[in-house]
Amino acid sequence: MELEFEYFKKWVKDKLRVDLNSYKEKQLHRRIGTVMNSAGAKNLKEYAELIQKDENIKRVFLDYITINVTEFYRNKEIFDEFEDAMTSLLVPRFKSLNIWSAACSIGAEPYSVAMIMEKNKLKENRILATDIDDTILKRAKTGKFKENEIKNVPKQELDKYFELKGGEYHLAHEIKRRVEFKKHDLILDKYEKNFHAVICRNVTIYFKNETKNEIYKKINDSLEKGGIFFTGATESIYNPSSFGFRKLSTFLYEKV
Ligand SMILES: C[S@@+](CC[C@H](N)C(=O)[O-])C[C@H]1O[C@@H](n2cnc3c(N)ncnc32)[C@H](O)[C@@H]1O
Repeated sequence: MELEFEYFKKWVKDKLRVDLNSYKEKQLHRRIGTVMNSAGAKNLKEYAELIQKDENIKRVFLDYITINVTEFYRNKEIFDEFEDAMTSLLVPRFKSLNIWSAACSIGAEPYSVAMIMEKNKLKENRILATDIDDTILKRAKTGKFKENEIKNVPKQELDKYFELKGGEYHLAHEIKRRVEFKKHDLILDKYEKNFHAVICRNVTIYFKNETKNEIYKKINDSLEKGGIFFTGATESIYNPSSFGFRKLSTFLYEKV
């Protein structure tokens, strides 16, 4: 197994240009084992063949080993569309907005929403941000970010809301205070209701179809009619009407 793993790491470096040696060995073993099984491969050799053959399996593998990776305005052009949907669809429909950023990692996503609200002077009732991972939530609350995490933030917002101290970007209190962080497991925990937008991006790709479908149903249930579900760039919903959604674009769905 050890030899096989060494061979796999070398293969990943050669073919995918990812250096797995930079990752913690124990975690990496566990994670690769999980993702390999869910792809239906029996061993690393078989898994490597699948990765090479299937773009989707390759993407899930790469995302899985960098599971907490996030950034402000991830996929900026998509975030811009979400901003448009907030101002043109949600504002006329609802007095003040209840937003939920589920699987928020270190908070870059809900804080991006808070900056959008501030910029457009939108009235929010609540921005709830949740994740399964306690450690990551603790980091989120500090509001301190690395350079690669803020690279999509427009210069004007960077100057206005961040202060560079000791090599880290510290988010302004006026943005931080708008976001409420809480632990929540998308699979096991109950979902709150009455949201006008639910953002759940780059996490369902790790789940089996049945689980994913269950999550779509529960998200639909947690939204108000006319509310919006914002998914990841590669997580478009097949057959959205069966979950009570109308497709606005590949990553925006409205509750009907
Ligand atoms: C790749 S990050 C996505 C962060 C952010 N949504 C984005 O798109 O940039 C995936 C996050 O999902 C969280 N996660 C994994 N399983 C989860 C679960 N069952 N319930 C809630 N969060 C989960 C991880 O802790 C991680 O922070």
